[in-house]
Amino acid sequence: MADLDQNTVTDAVIAQMATTPDPRMREVMESLVRHLHGFAREVRLTPAEWLEAIAFLTKVGQACTPIRQEFILLSDTLGLSRLVNLMDDKANRVGDATETSLLGPFYREAAPHFGYGESIAVHAKGPEMMLFGRVVNEAGEGVPDAVVEIWSTDAEGAYDLQALDPQTMDMRGQFRTDAEGRYAIRTLIPLGYSIPMDGPVGAMVRAQKRHGFRPAHIHMLIGAEGYRELITALYLGDDPNIDSDTVFGVSESLVVQPRMGVEGSPDPSVPAIRYDFQIARRAAHDTTGRVGADPSKVAAE
Ligand code: BEZ
Ligand code: FE
Repeated sequence: MADLDQNTVTDAVIAQMATTPDPRMREVMESLVRHLHGFAREVRLTPAEWLEAIAFLTKVGQACTPIRQEFILLSDTLGLSRLVNLMDDKANRVGDATETSLLGPFYREAAPHFGYGESIAVHAKGPEMMLFGRVVNEAGEGVPDAVVEIWSTDAEGAYDLQALDPQTMDMRGQFRTDAEGRYAIRTLIPLGYSIPMDGPVGAMVRAQKRHGFRPAHIHMLIGAEGYRELITALYLGDDPNIDSDTVFGVSESLVVQPRMGVEGSPDPSVPAIRYDFQIARRAAHDTTGRVGADPSKVAAE
């Protein structure tokens, strides 16, 4: 039996795990062990520090509830959700399809249905805007009957789950595109907001002297028969944190600004954003781009 040292222990672990029958699990676990061990060697991790890290991860798990996923928040604030998202986009995004963004923890299934141009602000009050445009395919043709789901904070920067009792939905809804692929949504101009800072992830963000804010944004989830589900968000360009999103979700092509006088707006008396979303045909090998939703619901698709 050979004595292990701080370098050979890594190969010993990997050799023992070589019996793993699932090849993808074997690949992922081997790489994880190599990187974890490499990380511990690089920072010369001490026992006290490792115990502190375990206490932190324990608190992250304990902060999770059916409506709060602190581990996803940790993944988001470490940029890991965005990295997984970007890799999925690179592997699966077709042509000029709209770029994706984070699903975030505030998506809810079964949001209320609305008709063309109706308002999703049932309870919340504040300055209004219109969001309208088309859902198109790779040829620029309208996709009829696509489901356009939208959710955002209200004008004070709170999601319904934060502002109202958990049974009440507001500032979210489902629309269907018309025969030409058009959609129109009346909503409030959202405000940027702080990610939940009252748990262990918030403590980490504060310890790093980060501001913890996301720039104002509007989440969209668009689906149509035979097309890849598009999970994205539009970001308001005038938000002071547009270049320093705590969860790294912003891309240039998703930055917008509500303005008066936008041609074709269903209500010219309020500012509007016109945005066309391009969705791609579903390929046989497609997997979901969701990071943040309940995987059992995704698998059932
Ligand atoms: C959000 O978009 O609402 C969000 C995304 C990641 C972490 C926290 C919030
Ligand atoms: Fe959000």
